[in-house]
Amino acid sequence: MESSSSLWRRFWVWFSAPFRAPPRKRRITRRPEPEVALTAGPRGSAPWTRGVDAPSLEPIHVRRHVLDGLHEAEVAARSFDDRAFLRRLQSTIATDDLGLPPFPGTVVELKRLLSRGVEVPAARLALVIEKDHALVEAVLRQARGPAWRTPPDSLRTAVTRVGNDALWRASMRFALEATVFHVPGYQHRVEEIREHSLVVAEIAAWMLGDAEDRGGAWLAGLLHDIGKLVIYKEAGRLGAPVSESVLHDVIDRMHASIGFLVARRWEFAEVEAGAIALHHGTTRMPGGPGRLAAYLRAADIAAHGAQARRARQATTARQVLVADFRGLGFDADAALNVADQASMRLSRLQAA
Ligand SMILES: [Fe+2]
Ligand SMILES: [Fe+2]
Repeated sequence: MESSSSLWRRFWVWFSAPFRAPPRKRRITRRPEPEVALTAGPRGSAPWTRGVDAPSLEPIHVRRHVLDGLHEAEVAARSFDDRAFLRRLQSTIATDDLGLPPFPGTVVELKRLLSRGVEVPAARLALVIEKDHALVEAVLRQARGPAWRTPPDSLRTAVTRVGNDALWRASMRFALEATVFHVPGYQHRVEEIREHSLVVAEIAAWMLGDAEDRGGAWLAGLLHDIGKLVIYKEAGRLGAPVSESVLHDVIDRMHASIGFLVARRWEFAEVEAGAIALHHGTTRMPGGPGRLAAYLRAADIAAHGAQARRARQATTARQVLVADFRGLGFDADAALNVADQASMRLSRLQAA
C-alpha cells in the first residue's frame, strides 16, 4: 500500500509538470583542443626547440665555447650550490674523458662489423660477443623469446636467431644501459630521455631505409641528447639540489655541444658526432652531418609528437613535421606511425 506522502508527491509532479520550465538543454561546449599543450608548458616552448647547436664541429672550439658559457653562468649564479655545480661541470668538461667510462670495446667492434653493409657470419659475431659476459647474457635472453620453443643450444645459434639488426640494437642498448644511463638523483628524467632517445633512434633508422649508414643514424638518434646526461650526472654527484632554472639553462644552451664532445670522445664517426652537434637545427650545415642532423631534428619532433599523442595532448608537432618532412622528402604521418609503433614496442618491453 502506497503511503499518503508518496501519493501526494506523485500528484504534485503530475500537476505541476505543465508549469515547470522545460529542462534546459545542456550546452555542450567543446573546449578547443589544447593546440599548443606541449608548447605552453611551464618552460614555455616546444621540447624540440629547447636546444642550441654547437658553434662548430671542431672539438677544441666547442670545448672552449662550453667552458666559456659555463663560466659566465657561474658568475651570474646566485646560490652557492649552483656555483659549485657549474664549477664541477667545468672541470669535467675540461678533462678528456668527460667523466664517462669508455664505450665498451666489444660494442664498438660489433658496430664496425655490422655497419659494413655485408653479411657477417654468426660465428664471427659470436667470437666478438663472447668477450663480454654481460653481453652474452643479453643476447641469450633475447634469443629465448616466446617465438622459439627451445632455448638456443649455443651463442652462435642465439646470434642467428636474433639477427644482425636486432643484435646491433640490443648491444647498443646494453652498452648505454650499463655505462651511461645511471644518474643518481635524476634517474626518472634519465629514463625519460632514454625512452625518448630509443624512439628517435628508430625513426632516424627508418628514414635511412636500407642505406648502409642506417646503424650510424640509429646510434646518433640514441645519443642525440646524451649531453643532457653528462649535465645531470654532474648535478647528481653534487649531493645538493641545483636550481631548476640553472639546470635547464645549461641543458638548453650546452647539451648539443657536450653531446658532440661525448661522441668524439667515444670515437664515433664524424657524421654521427656532427649530427648530434647540430640536431636542434639552429645551425644549418651542408654535407653528411647537416643531412643526418636534419633527420634527427625531424625524428626528435616525431618522437615528441608520439609522446604527446599517447598522453592525449595536442601538439604543434604535426604541423612542424609536415613542413620539415616535406623538405626532406618524407611523409609526416608515416613518421608519426613509426614513432607510435616504436613507443608501443618499448612499453611492451618494459611491461614484460
Ligand atoms: Fe636535444
Ligand atoms: Fe630529443
